[in-house]
Amino acid sequence: MTRIAVIIGSTRPGRRGAGVAQWVQEAAGRHEAVKAGDATVEIVDIAEFKLPLLDEAVPAAFGQYGNEHTQKWARTITSYDGFVFVTPEYNRSVPASLKNAIDFLYHEWSNKAAGFVSYGTQGGLRAVEHLRTTLAEVKVADVATAVGLQIFTDFTFSDPTNPLDPGTVTPGPQQEPALHKMLDEVIAWSGALKPLRAQASAV
Ligand SMILES: Cc1cc2nc3c(=O)[nH]c(=O)nc-3n(C[C@H](O)[C@H](O)[C@H](O)COP(=O)(O)O)c2cc1C
Repeated sequence: MTRIAVIIGSTRPGRRGAGVAQWVQEAAGRHEAVKAGDATVEIVDIAEFKLPLLDEAVPAAFGQYGNEHTQKWARTITSYDGFVFVTPEYNRSVPASLKNAIDFLYHEWSNKAAGFVSYGTQGGLRAVEHLRTTLAEVKVADVATAVGLQIFTDFTFSDPTNPLDPGTVTPGPQQEPALHKMLDEVIAWSGALKPLRAQASAV
């Protein structure tokens, strides 16, 4: 069984990220490996962990976590084999909440695979490119296939002039096949990296 976490990167009230993650989980439920019970896809919401800005005295690579919120976050991330990061684009990059949550940990991310579902006015692709660079440092294997949702075409709004309307995720027909292809890659790589994770935990 391969356990995949869908990590919601944004934390602001009224965020679109929660709806995007729900769509990812629903659509993942139609993936063959999930239907067969070979993989599970669960939502992990950074907002629920109430992480402050990084407040650990020792850098994460040493694995010495002094705070309960860090230990809880570490236990959660440890329990997954791979990740789908759901990220918006904030000022051409990832939201600070997501970068901060990644910075809190190190080995808990390592030798695992990740894919991306981004969103923004141009599909959030610039956030994904920055995220790939960050994840390289914590030894996450990022797959090539990604999903980029466009705010103006993959969401429906009851009142497009209302900035408080998060809209509903209504992805174009190409998006679910892309998501499934990305999950194929994340599940395969998460499995392939298992021996490295076992080796690391035995040291
Ligand atoms: C601080 C901030 C910066 C943003 N910068 C960009 C940007 O650079 N490019 C873009 O396509 N959208 C940008 N947007 C629009 C967001 O992609 C859009 O509002 C998205 O819904 C935000 O994700 P969230 O609702 O999950 O917080 C920005 C939004 C915020 C709040």
